[in-house]
Amino acid sequence: MRSHVHLTTHDLTKGYEAGPVVDGISLTVSAGQRLGVIGENGRGKTTLLRLLAGDLAPDHGTVTRHGSLSLVRQEMPFHEQEAVGDLLTEALHASRTALSELDSAAAPFDEQRYAEALAHAENIEAWDADRRADVALKALGADHDPATRLAHLSVGQRYRVRLACLLAERADVLLLDEPTNHLDAAALGFLTERLLRHPGVVVLVSHDRTLLDDVCTQLLDLDPTPDGEVRLHGGGYRAFKETKRAERRRWEQRFAQEAAEHDELAEKVDRAQSRLQDAWRPPKGASKHKRGTRAASKMRNVARRLDELDEHRVTAPPPPLRFTPPELTADGDLLHATPLEVPGRLVLAEPISLGAGDRLLITGPNGAGKTTLLNVLAGRIRPAHGTVHHAGKIALLAQESAFEDEDATAAQVCSRAAELGLLTAEDLARPVRHLSTGQRRRLELAVLLSGGPDVLLLDEPTNHLSIALVDELTEALLRTRAAVAVATHDRQMRTDFGRWRTVTPNSPSQSRETSVASEQVFY
Ligand SMILES: Nc1ncnc2c1ncn2[C@@H]1O[C@H](COP(=O)(O)OP(=O)(O)OP(=O)(O)O)[C@@H](O)[C@H]1O
Ligand SMILES: [Mg+2]
Repeated sequence: MRSHVHLTTHDLTKGYEAGPVVDGISLTVSAGQRLGVIGENGRGKTTLLRLLAGDLAPDHGTVTRHGSLSLVRQEMPFHEQEAVGDLLTEALHASRTALSELDSAAAPFDEQRYAEALAHAENIEAWDADRRADVALKALGADHDPATRLAHLSVGQRYRVRLACLLAERADVLLLDEPTNHLDAAALGFLTERLLRHPGVVVLVSHDRTLLDDVCTQLLDLDPTPDGEVRLHGGGYRAFKETKRAERRRWEQRFAQEAAEHDELAEKVDRAQSRLQDAWRPPKGASKHKRGTRAASKMRNVARRLDELDEHRVTAPPPPLRFTPPELTADGDLLHATPLEVPGRLVLAEPISLGAGDRLLITGPNGAGKTTLLNVLAGRIRPAHGTVHHAGKIALLAQESAFEDEDATAAQVCSRAAELGLLTAEDLARPVRHLSTGQRRRLELAVLLSGGPDVLLLDEPTNHLSIALVDELTEALLRTRAAVAVATHDRQMRTDFGRWRTVTPNSPSQSRETSVASEQVFY
């Protein structure tokens, strides 16, 4: 029934002052295909999704879409007054409209109108919409009272309500921009199943390697290639990574070979030129003149070869950003926490002690109180029972980043971000508001690490970061002298930190439902 659904782009192009971000992309995604979009932070993934959604106008090129559309954005702005019920009403709008159209076509009965309304309602499975929303909200742990204001939910809770609503809509074309950031294992399982069963088109931007492997039928790689064309790969993420590595190696080799040949030819031209000059000294005899003519034609040949080489020469492979973490020099005991309680939000039955080089993985489902625990350990939330004692410098990476002065340049916020390999020198010069979501998270990480912390508290550190940086960060966290406590749902990272000591806070109400933001006590 949905076989007509597809999404086609032709020469799709969009740029900002710094140059093109999406550069001449032509592709078709048909019903049943699930396209993963990957690339470094700031490569244009969000821009591409917004172009596909018609949310952003291209500089040139076209997007053709057959089928209804739903876009799950990377960030989630909301109004102060907005409640869970508002998102639900919006999500169920198409189904409810379809059903009321059916009712009005029935009385008085209008055969043609009724047939059309019926076909439409059947197509979008309108009768089932409320149940679908219910199932999705429960599966994502997001079944809050509809009257609950979004502002009173935690960041993760807000994202999960929105994702559940958008999945319940059952649009033909699903565009998802980093949908996994706030999902626990159960919620990820639901999302994976839902996407695998989706009869229409899926375009998924994600740094979740497991999800890409499990779900995608193809991967679109926006990172640079030798010929400047974006690449479409079949197969999962792991296969892609191998192909990409081999391609990069070939590219570097070819560039090095061509550069060597170029240097050699250029030297020959130089030599031939100076011989020619020698030869054109006032002639002393005929044979000398002949030599000069031969030298001139040889030089022309070499110069021609040089031109040919220059014409077809592969571009230099741009050096990838490489995270260079600072040496942290923590020493001795750094943090002690007694058993803790924050009413309604957190019960931690065991004490926590962190010394230099100690590692802690904070586990538990959505709503268990991991964020609350990290905030208490950081001294940002005062517990009702228990105490936290710091003997070292504490740094907390929050679940979602927010910068107060978005007009400041990245360099004004943290000039060391380039040296740490977190931003390029060009991006450092740009205002924070022009950076992509992942680039802002990189900047926040730079701020944190530049402060020379002894204890790193990281709340979902993989959120919005590129896969390459997640790998490098994992390495750095395994090595550092600082004490590290991490809360993460990222399945690969949890495997990588599988040997770490774990603590599981227990929210007294297992509070997937507890509203938190309004009652936070900061000091
Ligand atoms: N309004 C804007 N003005 C200028 N530059 C912008 C603007 N919006 C985005 N950019 C730039 O366009 C590029 C692509 O941004 P985009 O958000 O599409 O990247 P992304 O691949 O989604 O990154 P991330 O992985 O961090 O989410 C980035 O370099 C970004 O700084
Ligand atoms: Mg993005």
